[in-house]
Parts: sequence; C-alpha cells; structure tokens
Amino acid sequence: MTSPAKMPAGAHGQAPKEVAPPMTYVIAEPCIDVKDKSCVEECPVDCIYEGERMLYIHPDECVDCGACEPVCPVEAIFYEDDVPEQWARFTEENAKFFDQLGSPGGASKTGPQPYDTDYIASFITNR
Ligand code: F3S
Ligand code: F3S
Repeated sequence: MTSPAKMPAGAHGQAPKEVAPPMTYVIAEPCIDVKDKSCVEECPVDCIYEGERMLYIHPDECVDCGACEPVCPVEAIFYEDDVPEQWARFTEENAKFFDQLGSPGGASKTGPQPYDTDYIASFITNR
C-alpha cells in the first residue's frame, strides 16, 4: 500500500527561490555603423563582441564593472536599468546576438562576426 503523500503544511507558502537575472551593460543605437571600439580596450573580461554593424555585450560574460560606459565617444553604452526608452529593445538584441555564438569566453579570440541580429541588420538610423 502506498503511504499518504506527504504534503507540506501550508503548501501555498512555497516561495520559489527567485534567482534574479544578472544585470548587465547594453550597447544601443549610437554604436550602429560607428563601432569606435574604445570600449573593447577597457573591458577586463573581453566580453564585447563585434558584429557587422555594431558591437554587443555578452550578458552572461559581462561582470558589470562599468569601465566601458564612459569611454564610448557616442554614449552608446548603458547600464541595463538606464537604457533610454527608445532603445529598450537593444537589451534583448545584445543577448540575441549570442544565440548562434554561445558563450565563447573571449571576444578577441572569437574575432569579428559577419552578422547582426535581424533587428540591427535592418535598423535605419536617423543619422
Ligand atoms: Fe560602439 Fe562606443 Fe564601443 S561606438 S564599439 S559602443 S566605444
Ligand atoms: Fe566589460 Fe563593460 Fe561589462 S567593461 S565587464 S562590458 S560593464
């Protein structure tokens, strides 16, 4: 015979441990077709990867040191919470760039990639 299932008292109180997704820095629209790359020199973990039209920060490899943000001459880099509303989409685009690349663990050994996300590839800038 099976013993009665052990139900925890007050099962409604099971609070799953929420693991907050790591925050990260994001490269936004001003980098498109500019690619100054000063940011690359500053990154201690080499997690800023080059695409065809812009560079992308790897959301899992970035350690949020913030060193890249002040050196970008066109102010394209933002802390995830501070990405301007009109460029909100760039947060997911930075992540999406790595769908096919995974987590190589180093941009310099990976080299420039001959693609962008579809959104960036077809993005029309007002500049
Ligand atoms: Fe782009 Fe600025 Fe870096 S233009 S490559 S985010 S320094
Ligand atoms: Fe590198 Fe900038 Fe993150 S310097 S570790 S990409 S905040």
